[in-house]
Amino acid sequence: MKRRTLGSQGLTVSAIGLGCMGMTCVYGTPDEAGGQRTIQRALDHGVTFFDTAEMYGPHINERLVGRALKGRRDEAIIATKFGVSVEDGTTHFDSRPENVHASCDASLARLGVDHIDLYYQHRLDPNTPIEETMGALSELASSGKIGHIGLSEVDAETIRRAHAVHPVAAVQSEYSLWTRDVEDSVLPTLRELGIGLVPYSPLGRGFLTGSIKAASDLSKGDWRSGNPRFQGGNLDANLELVKAVEMLASEKGATPAQVALAWLLHQDPHIVPIPGTKRERVMAENAAAADLVLEADELAQLTSIFDPSAVSGGRYA
Ligand SMILES: NC(=O)c1ccc[n+]([C@@H]2O[C@H](COP(=O)([O-])OP(=O)(O)OC[C@H]3O[C@@H](n4cnc5c(N)ncnc54)[C@H](OP(=O)(O)O)[C@@H]3O)[C@@H](O)[C@H]2O)c1
Repeated sequence: MKRRTLGSQGLTVSAIGLGCMGMTCVYGTPDEAGGQRTIQRALDHGVTFFDTAEMYGPHINERLVGRALKGRRDEAIIATKFGVSVEDGTTHFDSRPENVHASCDASLARLGVDHIDLYYQHRLDPNTPIEETMGALSELASSGKIGHIGLSEVDAETIRRAHAVHPVAAVQSEYSLWTRDVEDSVLPTLRELGIGLVPYSPLGRGFLTGSIKAASDLSKGDWRSGNPRFQGGNLDANLELVKAVEMLASEKGATPAQVALAWLLHQDPHIVPIPGTKRERVMAENAAAADLVLEADELAQLTSIFDPSAVSGGRYA
């Protein structure tokens, strides 16, 4: 598997990572056993970059990742996140320095490791200045509990303020053919500051793979059932766009998922997508996207067909 550096802080990972969230929550039926096998098989395929978070489960996902990587810790780059919790349906944000330290210790214990390679703030805490949070993260880096600092879903100004306190290695944001918000100001800022970009939901939460053709393809309780892009007329309109991915995939002898991932990889050398799957075969198929070359005209065509104005429905409800 090809490697990429995430920004200029020395963090090197496989060109495609593995998102572990869906193994325990959010999409369809959780499958911890399948997830564990998928993580282990990913290592065999040279995938080294594993993405989890305190809030997935909560806590269950980190434990699963820790179990799966037991005995092979040195082969993996573990990324996890802190700062968001949901209680009684209400989302809480807490990036106060004391919570940064407590959350890190708890994640280390759940993962069963002595350091986290990339530690992200999951979402900005409106009540804690980013400088205070970065101060605590900087202390964790100095103590060796974390290797690198990341942020998730932040704007360009926050990235600059954070980076002035301590170098940020990577920003994780939703980025895919059908979610292009980062292109306006975030991606240019990351390039300028030497920070890597980790696109989450790089397959449009599965939609860009062409495997979801109707709302009825989603099982009861699947988070996507409540997402505007997967509903009614929006879904039908978005399916028209996916046809372009399917068509190019068939011309290239690739899968639609590989085309969607390759499009991302071609946007910048410091981009590393983390497609999520709990299936071993699918993980291997997605990882192979690292070798798929898209020509300039093919990239331009996809970019234009998926112009943000052509996508129906907001990315969150
Ligand atoms: N920072 C954040 O706020 C944030 C938010 C969301 C996600 N994330 C991270 O990003 C990771 C990836 O994002 P995501 O899981 O939301 O979305 P995604 O990677 O765009 O799509 C995942 C969905 O697509 C399906 N899938 C994957 N590969 C496929 C293929 N080749 N063919 C058909 N279906 C395929 C998966 O189902 P199967 O499992 O059945 O294969 C799953 O339902 C997550 O695992 C998580 O670690 C971060």
